[in-house]
Amino acid sequence: MEIAVNKELKMDFQDIIREKRDGQTLSEKEIGYLVKGISDGSLPDYQIAAWAMAVYFQGMDDRETRDLAMAMAYSGEVVDLSFIPGIKVDKHSTGGVGDKTTLIVTPLVAAAGIPVAKMSGRGLGHTGGTVDKYASIPGFQVERKFPDFIKQVQQVGAAVVSQSGNLVPADKRLYAIRDVTATVESIPLIASSIMSKKIASGANSIILDVKVGSGAFMKEQEKAEELARTMVEIGKRAGRRVISVLSDMEQPLGRMVGNALEVKEAIDTLKGRGSQDLLELSLVLASYMLILGGKTSSLEEARESVREILVSGRGWEKFQEMIAAQGGELKQEMENYGLPQALSKQEVKAAKSGYVSAVNAFLIGHTAMMLGAGRARLEDDIDYAVGVELLKKTGDPVQAGDTLALLHLNDEKRIEPASLEVSRAYIISPDPPQKKRLILDIIE
Ligand code: URA
Repeated sequence: MEIAVNKELKMDFQDIIREKRDGQTLSEKEIGYLVKGISDGSLPDYQIAAWAMAVYFQGMDDRETRDLAMAMAYSGEVVDLSFIPGIKVDKHSTGGVGDKTTLIVTPLVAAAGIPVAKMSGRGLGHTGGTVDKYASIPGFQVERKFPDFIKQVQQVGAAVVSQSGNLVPADKRLYAIRDVTATVESIPLIASSIMSKKIASGANSIILDVKVGSGAFMKEQEKAEELARTMVEIGKRAGRRVISVLSDMEQPLGRMVGNALEVKEAIDTLKGRGSQDLLELSLVLASYMLILGGKTSSLEEARESVREILVSGRGWEKFQEMIAAQGGELKQEMENYGLPQALSKQEVKAAKSGYVSAVNAFLIGHTAMMLGAGRARLEDDIDYAVGVELLKKTGDPVQAGDTLALLHLNDEKRIEPASLEVSRAYIISPDPPQKKRLILDIIE
């Protein structure tokens, strides 16, 4: 078996794995060697996997996590946004179900005069990817040449594109290995993975939406807080201002889960007709982005500005401007704006009466994936039209036989398993559940 040894640094990767396995801290040099070996291919998958598992069990301290994030951030191309005047604010969600806030927040913030130059990822597993949602709009181009991307932000104020292939190659390889070795759920690995991409993407300030609950990587608030704090700290050390919003992901956000369905819901929200939870989280995130962008230091003032932009329709106008700039076509005369539509809808009904006490976000995300809205592997194709529409959410009273949700589907064979999964997601209890907060904490 080949053993990776870097002659120049006189490092044996086996020793690095052993040190981590035994709970020691790795030096900046060792982490640099590791990241170089991941990105140039000199380290084999099995040694990287063994090291990731050692980190999973032994963790990393703040210094190691920061060194890992920085080494990964500079493992490939680093975007220079200095051509765009002003403070550039980026947004990142740790991944949720029905989370279409970027589609709402981007035009609201851009309309307030803060440039949004955003690179987003594709969805993997039960969580959706922002780029896939935009890509469901007919004609919309998610791939843009860098000068065109910059030009659009200068002219329109906002652009959202697919992450460049050369950005953070070390994370790309490490994440793919973690994904198949049960080592994703590690706070230092998640924090360094996310922050390396944010640092390489070039923004000055970052708002992080850290999700907590069944549909999130972090199921418990305590762990989510630790993740948020770690990321804020990495950002600070890298000269970025970072604010983390901890938000509930026990049930999906809004009512639609699935790419084109979520675009439609985002448009409805920008037109003042969205779900309350989706609107509230969007207003909170956009308000903090105004603060990060230096528009105001008062949260009340920021919220008032964002509200005014929404109510006046300026957010909706900015959304249309950005979509058109990227080649997207929305048909105003059609109820669903000409977005892809599934062939049929299937009702999922309540088996008993009571109150909805839970709508498990993971199971709803998994249902959308079963219908074809998500991908199990990055190279999989997805169906933009399909998904789940939630007619009842946590706290709603229901009668036996009421429709809980609608499946939007293109393949009849998927009706039975998908209906079963949605039925499993809904818990109906005799008493109303305690109301849960949507915004759980803010960490600066
Ligand atoms: N999202 C990322 O980009 N990386 C992780 O490790 C987890 C979620």
